[in-house]
Amino acid sequence: MPFVPPAEAAHFIFRRIPLERTSTTVTTHLLPTYARADLAFERGEGAWLISTANERYLDFSGGVAVNVLGHAHPHLLAALTEQAQKVWHVSNLYRVPEAERLAERLCAISFADLVFFCNSGAEAMECSIKVARKHHAASGHPERCRIIAFEGAFHGRTLATLAAAGNKKYLDGFGPVVEGFEHIPFGDLEAVKRVIGPETAAILIEPIMGEGGVRVIPNQFLQGLRKLCDEHGLLLMFDEVQTGVGRTGHFFAYERTGVKPDILALAKGLGGGFPVGACLATAEAGKGMIPGTHGSTFGGNPLAMAVGNAVVDVLLEPGFLEGVRKKALLLRQRLAEVHDQHGDVIAQVRGDGLLLGLRTHVPNGDLVDALRAEHVLAVAAGDNVVRLLPPLIISESEILEGMNRLDRAASAIERSLKSKQKVAGAPG
Ligand SMILES: Cc1ncc(COP(=O)(O)O)c(C=O)c1O
Repeated sequence: MPFVPPAEAAHFIFRRIPLERTSTTVTTHLLPTYARADLAFERGEGAWLISTANERYLDFSGGVAVNVLGHAHPHLLAALTEQAQKVWHVSNLYRVPEAERLAERLCAISFADLVFFCNSGAEAMECSIKVARKHHAASGHPERCRIIAFEGAFHGRTLATLAAAGNKKYLDGFGPVVEGFEHIPFGDLEAVKRVIGPETAAILIEPIMGEGGVRVIPNQFLQGLRKLCDEHGLLLMFDEVQTGVGRTGHFFAYERTGVKPDILALAKGLGGGFPVGACLATAEAGKGMIPGTHGSTFGGNPLAMAVGNAVVDVLLEPGFLEGVRKKALLLRQRLAEVHDQHGDVIAQVRGDGLLLGLRTHVPNGDLVDALRAEHVLAVAAGDNVVRLLPPLIISESEILEGMNRLDRAASAIERSLKSKQKVAGAPG
């Protein structure tokens, strides 16, 4: 008799489940919303991840801009374990000193006066949208609820953040789209002016579009948006979920633009791998957010805040961000060389700091795969771009090692292109 597991154990058994309704084969009970590589990691050390097959991978994906301090950073480990022995969670019905401290520190280094903590980037954006709309309602203009956003942006996967980005591919099949967003191409201030109306509340933009293909928004355009916001009484909202927490060599990407927003969404790097998000706002922008207007069960709990404070400790150490800028320059220089050598594969290098993109001539997934074959992790993005987002603690020698591997990955693609051309040209 074959062994039949008890029904309650079924969810713990790893098995192959062919799904007949699609061509996908999944190997777990996880909802198959991701096209996952068949690779799993057991542990991490700095800029390296070690697979379950005990192979070392150089992490140029940084958990998609999350692992700013790499893996198993001693300061984060110490903060997490110390807090874990005190108290993990208390509800937001009480004061949370660790959250008050992190909020105070974020405000001290930014334009902001107020912070709301949550658990993800999408939640940070949801809060930002609510803050903007409530500001106008509290000013006696509830009709001012529409937000101008930009084509190619990404703001998260909740229904409102999907509507904010307006990407049809991600909205398709999910019913009515949340109302109140206009979408225009970035770079055209005249187009922005044309859509500003009596119901406009705010303008929302990522200073560098990450998922959209590492597209750096020119400072002049951001300055123009600030001016328009000031002229029309609108709030300027920056989505720094991907660009914040040192990614550009500045704590916030806006610091390199000469423009300050009124509201800013932060997440990813803020917990260094622990789920933490934050919405920052000026006192004026946040004036409508009185008790009862927003909430989150887990947002800003002591465990999350201990880790957030530890991340900030390291980022604010004298010389840390300067070091990131120096390493970013080295990476950029080496990328320019690899680009020169492999013009058939790499079309363009773009980005800022340690948020860099390689636009490719071949499908971007081919370069991601070729890098993985060289044991380097990178992430695909829109506009046929491969993103490089190494941890901010990566060393110069690891950057050089990564670039040698990129060189080999690009050579492998070139060889395969040549052999395909030969086959195509061979007499039949
Ligand atoms: C700019 C930006 N905003 C929002 C989000 C959503 O963040 P999360 O996936 O944590 O909800 C992302 C995630 O990639 C992002 O890059």
